[in-house]
Amino acid sequence: MADTMQGLKRTHYTTQLTTQQTGEVVTVAGWVQKSRNLGNLIFIDLRDRSGIVQLAFDDSTDRGIFEKAASVRGEYCIMAQGTVRRREAVNKEIPTGEIEIYVTDFRVLSKSITPPFEITDQTNVKEELRLKYRYLDLRRASMQRYLATRHKIAKVTRDYFDQHGFMEIETPVLVKSTPEGARDYLVPSRIHAGKFYALPQSPQIYKQLLMLSGFDRYLQITKCFRDEDLRADRQPEFTQIDLEMSFVEQDDVIAINEGYLKYLFKQVLDMDIQTPLRRIPYAEAMNRYGSDKPDTRFGLELMDLSPILKDTTFKVFAGALASGGSVRAINVKGAADKLTRKEIDKLTDFVKSYKAKGLAYTRVTSDAHTSSFEKFLTPDEVSALHTAVGLETGDVLLVVADPKNTVVFAALGALRKHLAEKLELIDKTKFDLLWVTDFPLFEFSEEENRYVSTHHPFTHPNLEDLPLLESHPDQVRSIAYDIVINGYEAGGGSIRIHDQELQDRMFRALGFTEERAQEQFGFLMDAFRYGAPPHGGLAFGLDRLTMIFTGTENIKDVIAFPKVQNASDLMSQCPSEVEDKALQDLHIAVSEKED
Ligand code: AMO
Ligand code: AMP
Repeated sequence: MADTMQGLKRTHYTTQLTTQQTGEVVTVAGWVQKSRNLGNLIFIDLRDRSGIVQLAFDDSTDRGIFEKAASVRGEYCIMAQGTVRRREAVNKEIPTGEIEIYVTDFRVLSKSITPPFEITDQTNVKEELRLKYRYLDLRRASMQRYLATRHKIAKVTRDYFDQHGFMEIETPVLVKSTPEGARDYLVPSRIHAGKFYALPQSPQIYKQLLMLSGFDRYLQITKCFRDEDLRADRQPEFTQIDLEMSFVEQDDVIAINEGYLKYLFKQVLDMDIQTPLRRIPYAEAMNRYGSDKPDTRFGLELMDLSPILKDTTFKVFAGALASGGSVRAINVKGAADKLTRKEIDKLTDFVKSYKAKGLAYTRVTSDAHTSSFEKFLTPDEVSALHTAVGLETGDVLLVVADPKNTVVFAALGALRKHLAEKLELIDKTKFDLLWVTDFPLFEFSEEENRYVSTHHPFTHPNLEDLPLLESHPDQVRSIAYDIVINGYEAGGGSIRIHDQELQDRMFRALGFTEERAQEQFGFLMDAFRYGAPPHGGLAFGLDRLTMIFTGTENIKDVIAFPKVQNASDLMSQCPSEVEDKALQDLHIAVSEKED
């Protein structure tokens, strides 16, 4: 039988103990990080959620306690009472390194079998094993720190928005499936045979309805569900800090959120950020950085060579330009020593993974000027090109041409980030915050062969571009904005359409028939006939904010129980099969099963 806690109450977290408590009797509780038995001396490192403290036992310790201390193994759950005293050998590595507890009462609250890995941050244990035993993995100090930061962000967020008159209102988790956006997670209905709920991809429609209901300023920290492919910064269920405001324009939404970010950085990291933040229109972000979420902590900007090469006979470039594409380049200054031919070959493979067909280059060292493409250009073109990019000795010019601008941007945008990491151009202590504005209202979906909303169908078009809605949908900008931090899309939002006529026009432009619009969004369209206020809002990704604030590049680090790449949970082994009876109740027949 294990010991009970009877007669003992924890008085301190380990790291609350300093030399100030010397001589005091204290009680701590936690787990055995490690123990050392030197015969007549025993030391146990006790770990709790705040850190570690050393427990000491010696010749004069009660024999029963001494023997119990000698019996503990790693991860036993223990409690100890004793006197704080200065340590002989100070450990500078830990905050409590100057003291130890000389133990006078000691309990083994429960034993532990040998854990599958040691609970330490100095670990190279495979992520799969960590996730299978996530409850043990979460005992590690870094994991405790990540989740503490996540908590702090959520707390500060609620404080700030509360102070600014926002009300937290919950919206449903079983909702109607709508076709726009990512794939829905569906929940079969038992009561309505053949019918399904969807899990919300976001509370978008509900928060707009709350504006119509007069709540004026809404906030919710809420789970969202999207059945899409996972990435390092993407999970199938993630958390949004979701907000909406009435009687506002873009500048109002931006201002309240800049205030929020300023407050958040101060409270969580004690950092002052300068506001107003920079705003970069989408088109400029793409042209300069090849991305709608640019990391501007480093240069390596893109340059458009298309005007210089408009008459070229080089088939690769001419072909791209003739099809409405472009030829763009990055001049990697002073990198010729590092970017050897072999390295450039690797970069070529890298851009190919973004569908680029190749990577042309010019490399200038003090004794050679080599180029994969200049031989195909006229001397005038070559010299115009060198001038345009400011080519100097030591430079490596990297060029991508493609009939599709999206491919050129994706390839060079990713290459730019890849090179910055490789050449260590990023000052990781800096935070780079900016807004990207003026997103295109529509984007063309190859899959569906029609225009779809870039954001969602309630996004307000830029009034100046309204006349182009039907004739040139691709040229219409929206009143939508993303907040970008260190190259991550940390949040995004827009001003919404509150005018029913404009909303109808929008659905038509998106190719919805009246019946289909009515079927999908009927309740919203009906609601908006009852005096909808102008409104707009934004949602931050709480997971991504936590990644940015803790400096981790793995979204799983900031989620207690995350899913892996194939959307499964390695600990609970879900998704899993269910009993036939459960399927029958739900009127479901399974046609195919995973092995
Ligand atoms: P959006 O789809 O841009 O906007 O989502 C808002 C923010 O949520 C985060 N995010 C994710 N984080 C982790 N995993 C995911 N799969 C994931 N998907 C999105 C991002 C993103 O910026 N209703 C609108 C907001 C609005 O218009 O107010 C919306 O959902 O940080
Ligand atoms: P080629 O005529 O195919 O030998 O191509 C000459 C150079 O152009 C080589 O360095 C190729 O890697 C490069 N190249 C080929 N396709 C592209 C492209 N789409 N964009 C940029 N460079 C390319």
